[in-house]
Amino acid sequence: MTKTIAVVQRKGGVGKTTIAAHLAAGLAARGETVVIIDTDPQGDAARVLDMQPEDGLFNWLTGDRKNTSALDFIHPVSPEVYSTMDSPSRGSLYLLPSSSRTFAIPMLVQSPMALSERIAAELAPHVNRIIIDSAPTLSMFDASVYMAGDAFLYVTECEALSASGLRDGLAQLAQYGNHRQAFGLGLPSGVLGIVPNKMRPGTRNHRANIAMMAEEHGGLVWKPISQRTLWSESQNMGRLIWAYAPGSVEANEADEVVNQAQEVLNVV
Ligand SMILES: Nc1ncnc2c1ncn2[C@@H]1O[C@H](COP(=O)(O)OP(=O)(O)OP(=O)(O)O)[C@@H](O)[C@H]1O
Ligand SMILES: [Mg+2]
Repeated sequence: MTKTIAVVQRKGGVGKTTIAAHLAAGLAARGETVVIIDTDPQGDAARVLDMQPEDGLFNWLTGDRKNTSALDFIHPVSPEVYSTMDSPSRGSLYLLPSSSRTFAIPMLVQSPMALSERIAAELAPHVNRIIIDSAPTLSMFDASVYMAGDAFLYVTECEALSASGLRDGLAQLAQYGNHRQAFGLGLPSGVLGIVPNKMRPGTRNHRANIAMMAEEHGGLVWKPISQRTLWSESQNMGRLIWAYAPGSVEANEADEVVNQAQEVLNVV
């Protein structure tokens, strides 16, 4: 069954887009057909995949539903961006881009069910996985994202404030879970995992905060990703870490995110 995974955390710059793009591309490299839907008006998913932000999401959701489909708005991502000749991609990755016009979607499309219904009708029959990148700010589009996600991946920094943001986010997810059931969408969406990002292993405070998260959220907390400049360097070059620095510690950390996602997805 096609699973939609939303990467969320209402805090800016924690690494949502970086991880959403690596998760989507990692699953594609391993043979799946994956679409990343950018729901952030910043349009950053396009930038990290060496493409341009576009009105794709806006045009799809507000346009003429009879004569268009999601397939008209997705673009293939070049395998050069995320894989190498030595380790070529075995699947395909597509982007449904966003732009500042995404802000206006809730003014024109009132139903928070529209995104989830249209994913089910137009994308799910054609792809294995859908990854949603989300905005850090509170927006009227949040409800659509929460209704569309089957599973949620939380990205958090290793600071105390991020940990409390995480608590709020999980409480919000539980609330939307009740709405999902009320709308007959089946099981409430679950937490796929929590990725502590930008960890400085030498920082005692970071180690303590991660230990606290593990105590609070148990096995949901994935292996932390270290703070290293190669992540932003590769982004500057329009490449994901596997294409920019194959075999690096960072590439192994990115692999670990994909491994952990696959492990959980195989059992849920
Ligand atoms: N582990 C890491 N180490 C160092 N830099 C990182 C790491 N992860 C992400 N970054 C960098 O942090 C910056 C913010 O990352 P990203 O855009 O993915 O965050 P975001 O949560 O999507 O931000 P926003 O909330 O604005 O959407 C980027 O420059 C990215 O390269
Ligand atoms: Mg982002």
